[in-house]
Amino acid sequence: MSTRKIETGSRQADERFSITVSEKGPYLVYGRPPLATQFIMLNTEYESWYFQSGRRFPTESEPTALCRCGASKRKPYCDGSHLSARWDPTLTAPDEALLDHSDRTHGQTLALSDNPQYCVFARFCHATGDAWHLTARSDDPTSRRLAIREASMCPGGRLMAWDRATGRPYEFRFEPSLGLIEDPTIESSGGLWVRGGIPLRRETGQTYEIRNRMVLCRCGQSANKPYCDGTHASIHWQDHLDSLPEAEARSVEQEDSFAPKEAFAVPEKV
Ligand code: SF4
Ligand code: FES
Repeated sequence: MSTRKIETGSRQADERFSITVSEKGPYLVYGRPPLATQFIMLNTEYESWYFQSGRRFPTESEPTALCRCGASKRKPYCDGSHLSARWDPTLTAPDEALLDHSDRTHGQTLALSDNPQYCVFARFCHATGDAWHLTARSDDPTSRRLAIREASMCPGGRLMAWDRATGRPYEFRFEPSLGLIEDPTIESSGGLWVRGGIPLRRETGQTYEIRNRMVLCRCGQSANKPYCDGTHASIHWQDHLDSLPEAEARSVEQEDSFAPKEAFAVPEKV
């Protein structure tokens, strides 16, 4: 068993939680984390702005087998379709830390790390001016706040905002939980959003880096398995699990009314 690496700013979830990626089949989920659809919702400018939870799905069986080939008729659960589906289950993601291969943009008070291999095309980074330009202008308090928000909303963890004074990153404090991403704007479903430091390992025992936020492929077509690489968007993959919840577009000014207060707190030293 390889040693578990933990990304800076993340914490490992309680021991009962884990996910095993079977080599040619489903994700095997342990610990009964909550599982629900998570819709990418827009602001008044029609940009990705927040997630809205939808239908919940039980995870009481231990393990709960979740489809990763995209072909199950019992989604989000596995029904054995991976045995006959046209997909390549090969786990191709490199065995390396996300931050080891990230670029940095520096502003006066913030830095932004960026590893594009982990982009899942959720588009939160363009909501109010893009995260890179906002970071570059982070001497301005509004730009700084929005840069932190955009980076922290990035579900796949491609982007992280770092306070230059302390050298620490900003992270939402997620409970261990799973989300089935739905992206109605582009008529596509997305990956499995894994939050709160749930460890991920292969059947071989190889462990992946523990991260506060990551997205795993559910459509079966990612070139960076087990992670989502945004391919679902180009093929308009759909799981047909839930319909769009009633919600109003929220303006940027309404942010404080729904952003969890702890969302932008600098984590304790990790
Ligand atoms: S996953 Fe992150 S980097 Fe990719 S579009 Fe979404 S917010 Fe931007
Ligand atoms: S869910 Fe397969 S690439 Fe995103």
